Amino acid sequence: MELTLTINQAVVQVDVSPGESLLQVLRGLGYFGVKHGCETGDCGACTVLLDGKPVNSCVFLAAQAEGHTIETIESIGQHPELGWKLSQGLHPLQHAFIDTGAIQCGFCTPAQVLVAKELLERNPSPTESEVREALSGVLCRCTGYLKPVQAVLRAAAILRGEDVEPIGGADTVIPAPSEWLSPKTAPGGTIGEPPAPLGPAERVLTGIRVMPQIQATPETEPYQRVGKPERKVDAVKLVQGKPAFAADFEQRGMLVAKVLHSPVAHARIKHVDTTRATQLPGVAAVLTYKDIPRVIFSTAGQSDPIPGPLDTFSLDEKVRFVGDRVAFVAAETAAIAEQALSLIEVEYEALPVLLDPAQAMEPGASILHDETEYVNFAESDPTCNLAAKIRIDIGDVEKGFSEADFIFEDEYEVPKVQQAHIEPHVVITYWDEDDRLVIRTSTQVPFHARRILSPVLNLPIKRIRVIKPRIGGGFGGKQEILIEDVAAHLTIATGRPVIFEYTREEEFIAARSRHPMRIRMKTGVMKDGTLTANAMYALSDTGAYGCHALTVTGNTGHKAMALYVGDGPYREKPNIQFYADIVYTNHPPAGAYRGYGVPQGYWPVERQMEKIVRKLGLDPIEFRLKNALRAGELHPFSTAWSEGREPRPETIETCGLAECARQGKAAIDWDQKYANPAWHEIPGKPHLRKGIGVALVMQGTAIPYLDMGGASIKMNDDGSFNLLVGATDLGTGSDTVLAQMAAEVLGVPLEDMVTYSSDTDFTPFDKGAYASSTTYISGAAVVKAAEQVAERIRIRAARMLNKANQAVEVMPDEIRLVDRRAVSPDGRTVSLSAIAHNALHHADQEQIMAVASYVSPVSPPPFAAQFAEVTVDIETGQVVVDKLVMAVDSGVIVNPITASGQVEGGMVQALGYAVCEEMRYDEEGRARERDLREYHIFRSNEMPELETIFIETFEPSHPFGVKAVAEIPMDGVAPAVGNAILDACGVQVDDNPVTPEKIWRGM
Ligand code: FES
Ligand code: FES
Repeated sequence: MELTLTINQAVVQVDVSPGESLLQVLRGLGYFGVKHGCETGDCGACTVLLDGKPVNSCVFLAAQAEGHTIETIESIGQHPELGWKLSQGLHPLQHAFIDTGAIQCGFCTPAQVLVAKELLERNPSPTESEVREALSGVLCRCTGYLKPVQAVLRAAAILRGEDVEPIGGADTVIPAPSEWLSPKTAPGGTIGEPPAPLGPAERVLTGIRVMPQIQATPETEPYQRVGKPERKVDAVKLVQGKPAFAADFEQRGMLVAKVLHSPVAHARIKHVDTTRATQLPGVAAVLTYKDIPRVIFSTAGQSDPIPGPLDTFSLDEKVRFVGDRVAFVAAETAAIAEQALSLIEVEYEALPVLLDPAQAMEPGASILHDETEYVNFAESDPTCNLAAKIRIDIGDVEKGFSEADFIFEDEYEVPKVQQAHIEPHVVITYWDEDDRLVIRTSTQVPFHARRILSPVLNLPIKRIRVIKPRIGGGFGGKQEILIEDVAAHLTIATGRPVIFEYTREEEFIAARSRHPMRIRMKTGVMKDGTLTANAMYALSDTGAYGCHALTVTGNTGHKAMALYVGDGPYREKPNIQFYADIVYTNHPPAGAYRGYGVPQGYWPVERQMEKIVRKLGLDPIEFRLKNALRAGELHPFSTAWSEGREPRPETIETCGLAECARQGKAAIDWDQKYANPAWHEIPGKPHLRKGIGVALVMQGTAIPYLDMGGASIKMNDDGSFNLLVGATDLGTGSDTVLAQMAAEVLGVPLEDMVTYSSDTDFTPFDKGAYASSTTYISGAAVVKAAEQVAERIRIRAARMLNKANQAVEVMPDEIRLVDRRAVSPDGRTVSLSAIAHNALHHADQEQIMAVASYVSPVSPPPFAAQFAEVTVDIETGQVVVDKLVMAVDSGVIVNPITASGQVEGGMVQALGYAVCEEMRYDEEGRARERDLREYHIFRSNEMPELETIFIETFEPSHPFGVKAVAEIPMDGVAPAVGNAILDACGVQVDDNPVTPEKIWRGM
């Protein structure tokens, strides 16, 4: 049918089918700022303004839009500089989103800007709760909503003509005397007097202040770019909704791929007939296991050799979970592809369904992986459904238990949860003009994807190009070769471009998730609170395939069991045991999810510590700090385990944990609240109880001796630079912080670094975005490359300055690079653009450029103190988390806005893990949660107050002293909330999420 639509004030004639949604039509017309995160009206990413009011265009028929005005993000604002043409510039809302760091991956940003615009037109002076209400229809998995709310309030103030505070005033920085944080004088224990905590009025609440508190380390004082709240380098395009994501791309004749998923959890395919599907007009290819080579591989995006079994085929004659692949279809439209799926006839021979990992390990249990091609890694054993097995003994736990005054033993459980990035998995594949296969994909691991796909597709690596555009969130879910092979097989079969995009339901039934575990703890402790031994056994459910099985569960022990070593002689020789069995079941496979096994470990460890505290009447924070790892000590696991490779001893150089605990305590008013009966009750509300809880945590930074990052830098005529990195920015801001480090070395503003990342043809190798490594590993590579470029610049600058016939000859190493100039000690200068011109055009011509790479011998842990405050309704079990405070030692903070965005967003994801998120299955292995309505993630109007404090230390193994920040916010929230609930109402729930029903039953 023919429609006349008014889109962004232009009248457009369009031919649509009757059931076509407004979303499909708008994207078909090239309005790629309208995003797609579900098809059920739950995520809000597809929001447009219809006659000025927000509507979800995915559930709005295009035909209904005729006669109405449609406004998309493309109608709002322009890049402020468009050559000779006058630009109207960006809208104040867009400026505010950029300035406040409200944009992480940017996938939800166009929708947030549109709903905010509508709000401010209707209500120029909204309250914070009115802003939160307006934004509540747009889900964001990255930010924790704090900065988007700040952005809207800031824009409102600007639009009202008010002055607003500049971002990043010096008042948010607390200078730290060096003696506090020197590892030599203060090994994580008691240290000098802290500064007075900021008063309530000065703290970072929502308002229009966006900087976190930072206790700065003195080494950072001279920095010009590092440590500054620079705007994200990709923010201007994201806030305009430019076609930056994988699906925002057009190719002539592109086919749409769909996958037939298994309806049963365990079966052999007896018979499959694709005749009717193949004959359907508009179908270009139907593939089953009979049509493609049988190549075994692992979908885990990890370095070579993959530290896990090879147990997966693109298509197999056996299915192992509800949602497993049975057939691939490529067709002219999604509707035809869907219809073709329904015409594929499959006969299954049912096999026993194993959903309990303990039963799956029993002798005689049905075997999931009986294929002869299976390749073992370390102690995997498919004959007893073991994907991996870990046995780590440090010291002698039995001796430690025998020396203890008390033994605490308990069992805990942690659930399967989803990454729930708002952009689904999406890939486009096509042959380029050289018959090389181009894979444009939303991945965290472009180089691993190329290497792993090469044998699967029977194409040499040199004939594959993987491009990672902007990604709408990953959180580990895209550290997987999950969809690329589907589209690639279909492009090979048809010769045509193919797009394959998961629906939200496919995200729930066929993507990866966090490993659920049952965990047993046994802890020995003396009367004075000294830990004598700590043992953990984890039974981990990897689901149908063993992707990340060994490494995720290994981290559960490696990071969570490493923190508490004991005190006195036990500190010298800790007694720690970590055993784990990682078991195949007929659940959908687990995989990588931000935190990578560590949140699973801290739930039992920190709940166990709280039980000890309460039984022995100890101070929760002093007890923890007494037993916690300190600077100058050996990481206890570093001599015992290294993901199946040879372990090497590693000393902890920096640890700001004690200061984190002290600053966090002050921020949440711990001393006024903990053990204060009056605070726990609310006058006039006898059914409510307040509670407060704490958890201390540590993570790692990168994988030592393995993960490598590369960077190259090239100087341009005007003194600007192209920075090419293989590192993969998922929305975290890594492109920005890498550019900040290069800009610091080269003495230029950030705008002079033109950054491009993750294209296997053009950027150097990088292992990808995982293991909290980009700022540390890829950052060190960037600094190395920048230093080489700086060296070339100084040599040429010295030559140019000395030619000017001055009396004093300047040596290259005396020259500083600052403010786009090379400056000699006596004040003579030459601009970088003059140096670039000289190098490219005038004398001894050369391209000033360098390439460098870096692999680290260490993995310095970040540390954090997490605090939570809750209110529990003791009649219903309802719990409201009122406030989360996280004080983090992540080394030097390169960009306080992007880093605090990581902490805020991570805390909110972890809050879901604490209180509401869980993927559940029926007795046949069918998923109960299949959309974002059933699976609840937090909305903007459901947030607790969030506060982030950075306690900087200077990590000596990195040129700018950084450690990781991205994953540690996932670790402490659940146990801190669990401990706060215990504090509020005395109910001990050992399996998370802690739902109202569990609390109510415990009362
Ligand atoms: S795509 Fe429309 S609400 Fe999710
Ligand atoms: S910034 Fe909101 S979903 Fe990523």
